[in-house]
Amino acid sequence: MEMMEKVHVVDHPLVQHKLCILRDERTGVKDFREVVSEIATLMCYEATRDLPLEDIEIKTPITTATFKTLAGKKLAIVPILRAGLGMVDGILTLIPSAKVGHIGLYRDPETLEPVEYYCKMPTDISERDVIILDPMLATGGSASAAIQFIKNYDVKHIKLMNIIAAPEGIERIRKEHPDVEIYCAAVDEKLNDHGYIVPGLGDAGDRIFGTK
Ligand code: PRP
Ligand code: URA
Repeated sequence: MEMMEKVHVVDHPLVQHKLCILRDERTGVKDFREVVSEIATLMCYEATRDLPLEDIEIKTPITTATFKTLAGKKLAIVPILRAGLGMVDGILTLIPSAKVGHIGLYRDPETLEPVEYYCKMPTDISERDVIILDPMLATGGSASAAIQFIKNYDVKHIKLMNIIAAPEGIERIRKEHPDVEIYCAAVDEKLNDHGYIVPGLGDAGDRIFGTK
């Protein structure tokens, strides 16, 4: 399917199991928050699979040999506020030296269009590869705006990490930002009339922060 080009669905059993916990309406705020973070860590493992390596010589207690180590590519992660914040710690568990930018967007409930209210990026963002974090890709409006925003800083390589994506959101990102690779744990069926993902998990921000 052409739409699924550059879309990586992380179908690892642990991810799929944990996603069931998020979908369950009985899951409370503490568990929801913990599991979002755990899934982000597991997805990070996949999203960093193509990080460049370089040779390094190491003297083990037995001999000296050449091994592979990270080439030291600079990374930044950019959560879309609020819900993307829930994924930050999980990513930093694996990439503790990543810098963190923030972009505040909310969806206007009437128009479903993203409205920007905050932005703070690392000063050297243009030298870094960026992973944008948001648990939900629904219409794709928020993610598309965030990608464009970061492209305006002259960032060359951007990945988008979502936990659940709707086909509508994937299609929009494919069309508006064909260079961006998408990592998600599931592609759900559709959006409902209010722009919520079906079956989805409800409002990610509310469930992470216990609002509503
Ligand atoms: C949610 C979600 C995404 C956006 C997805 O945020 O976290 O950012 O909606 O929808 P879209 O793909 O149609 O743009 P929301 O606007 O509810 O803000 P919040 O994180 O502050 O709750
Ligand atoms: N934002 C959410 O938090 N959930 C959805 O299903 C859609 C947008």
